Amino acid sequence: MKRIVILGTGGTIAGQALSVDDSAGYVAAQIAVADLVAAIPALTRFALETEQVAQVDSKDMSFAIWRALAQRVAHHLGRDDVAGIVITHGTDTLEETAYFLHRVLAPSRPVVLTAAMRPATALGADGPQNLLDSVCLSALPEARGVLACVAGTVHAGSEVRKTHTWRMDAFDSGDAGPLGYMEAGALRRLRDWPQGEALGLAHALRTDWPRVDIVMNCAGADGVLVDALAALGTRGIVAACTGNGTLGAPLEQALLRAQRSGIAVLRSTRVGRGCVSGSPDSALPAAGTLTPVQARIELMLRLP
Ligand code: SIN
Repeated sequence: MKRIVILGTGGTIAGQALSVDDSAGYVAAQIAVADLVAAIPALTRFALETEQVAQVDSKDMSFAIWRALAQRVAHHLGRDDVAGIVITHGTDTLEETAYFLHRVLAPSRPVVLTAAMRPATALGADGPQNLLDSVCLSALPEARGVLACVAGTVHAGSEVRKTHTWRMDAFDSGDAGPLGYMEAGALRRLRDWPQGEALGLAHALRTDWPRVDIVMNCAGADGVLVDALAALGTRGIVAACTGNGTLGAPLEQALLRAQRSGIAVLRSTRVGRGCVSGSPDSALPAAGTLTPVQARIELMLRLP
């Protein structure tokens, strides 16, 4: 039987509260990934290995952890005896780590990120079922690509995003819709596995990613932040625009100024669904279906 490697990074799935009815006042990233696995009897039928890559609340996710994670994922994917990888992660930045790994590795075997909205100590904790579903998914011989599996739903890592602050079914895939559902250990697949060309591990391991910032358009927005970022030496700015990539006039002028000075600018949208469909001759390029945080990662990886 091929192995599944479970890489722990922390999150609420590894969180602990003082009482079982406390799903809010807990501390994330307390329980070792090996102990999370040991607490699920149904996992004993799999050949598993665990490795603690980090132990953080994912609001504190860092580029150093991303580099370490990409390196460990690539290492284990290079082994013939490994069928797939599961990563336990906090929900808050799971979509960023998923997009990052998708862009740098685009693996031909499954790399499944999972998480939980309730701490491991909660009555009705969701982590154990999410972890079991993710292991079942990563053991499927046909599975491939960076995936996210939470609340019985499977998303492509290139599309997943957190859309709820509290509910256990906190993720969706935007307009693309979910890739499928885990039902009693089996995948009911609705569409094709994630596609994509990997930029390569070398991009992931760079220690000199350019600074890229996100600025939001909103009522009364002016260009002061953009000018300040330019003075600070930022290399790229993603505008979280209104609607289909629109910007208030002062912010648009500031972004055009920044672009003329050599700063890369991309227009994304602050709206949860849809895309920015800008024409090729738009003065400020559109980020298409990329969310603001995805567009930021894209610029960080692509800028020299
Ligand atoms: C985190 O993102 O690490 C904390 C919140 C969560 O996992 O739901």
